[in-house]
Amino acid sequence: MNIQEIIAKKRDKQELSKDEINFFITQYTNNNIADYQASALIMAIYLNGMSKEETVNLTTAMANSGDILDLSEIGPVVDKHSTGGVGDKVTLILAPIIASLGVPVAKMSGRGLGYTGGTIDKLESIPGYKINISEEEFIQNVKKIGISLIGQTKNLAPADKKIYALRDATSTTESIPLIASSIMSKKIAAGANKIVLDVTYGSGAFMKTKEKAKELADEMIEIGNLAGRETVAVITPMEEPLGRNVGNILEVIEAVEALKGNIAEDVKNVVLELGSNMLKLAGKGDNLEENKCKMMENIANGKALEKFKELVANQGGDVSYIENTNKFERAKYILPVILSKVANNVKNQETGIKTNENITEDLIDGTVKEFKAEEVGKLSVFLGGGRIKKEDKIDSSVGIVLNKKIGDKIEKGDIVAYIHSNDEEKGKEAVQRLKEIYVIE
Ligand code: URA
Repeated sequence: MNIQEIIAKKRDKQELSKDEINFFITQYTNNNIADYQASALIMAIYLNGMSKEETVNLTTAMANSGDILDLSEIGPVVDKHSTGGVGDKVTLILAPIIASLGVPVAKMSGRGLGYTGGTIDKLESIPGYKINISEEEFIQNVKKIGISLIGQTKNLAPADKKIYALRDATSTTESIPLIASSIMSKKIAAGANKIVLDVTYGSGAFMKTKEKAKELADEMIEIGNLAGRETVAVITPMEEPLGRNVGNILEVIEAVEALKGNIAEDVKNVVLELGSNMLKLAGKGDNLEENKCKMMENIANGKALEKFKELVANQGGDVSYIENTNKFERAKYILPVILSKVANNVKNQETGIKTNENITEDLIDGTVKEFKAEEVGKLSVFLGGGRIKKEDKIDSSVGIVLNKKIGDKIEKGDIVAYIHSNDEEKGKEAVQRLKEIYVIE
């Protein structure tokens, strides 16, 4: 068996056998297959797809490429994973609520990639918070306080780590078999018995339509169930950013506010939808509406926020930042965004010539009709809040605070958003770019 034959087979739209898939995954993980060969195969998979059986075999091979965690000493653990989004701070709110209701949360999260954000980057913006701890410490933390949120450990699904980086660099991310195997291999290796998936669709998601999201959800549910993990999926819109803040520190602050009860409606819907299903899978009640009430109760009585503080302290983070979010570093420039359009140059009365001095800006009013999450995500990356290359360092304090979203009315002169930037010129450019993302009717 050799990699050239495997690439040719997929290129010619043939099905790969289990042995061929195992060969590719083991040899690539062990650096015996070059990145250019793996890229060629990944592109062939992207273009020609995979059968269900191939996707299951790929997932199993990737899960088995590293450690498979045994969480049995903790008891039944429910995991959650999102297919990605912009302004998605759901895990920061959901995980402590669920843990405060007595369901253990042992979750490994990802970093932001492309224009989508990642929970680990957000957690790392809390001074002192350690995201790299050993698998043993991770399990001990969950046993001790019922919750641990960390990054994917070095030896958890290492094949996925290598393939995901390749996909990011070769425009092969938006593929159902590749996303399904990437997510499910990590979930299976991370040891949860039950899995709730948040499958997003719309401008800010990898699946652009609800139909495609449903197809991806069905595939992941089938893989999960075949692996003996009870799996459910919730399909959620990501047409515009989720909540009010986009950017790492800004999202942590929004999450803390949410845990105090000041939670944006769209964030609340996703948190309750996912959480009520997690509680059901954990055997805490079959009635989803009742489960949602229990969750709201633990926000109102402060238990969820207390659990978040406990989590931060236990992972080495400085809790005083959670107690007083004004302590977080803020960007140097906070620039208001007011919607206006450049009016046609008014001609100089005497000369009849249009000059720059005669340019006027007409303020706009109306209702927000469209506000593309993908563009807002790209703007956050432009400000330094995300990476262009995997190794780039991110700027935690930058981002965008949204006052107006789809459906909101705008009066002339309203501040629709604020740009948080550490570079004045970039900030000014971001203001102009954000104005163009708003579509008003
Ligand atoms: N999240 C993942 O972990 N993998 C994907 O392929 C997409 C989103």
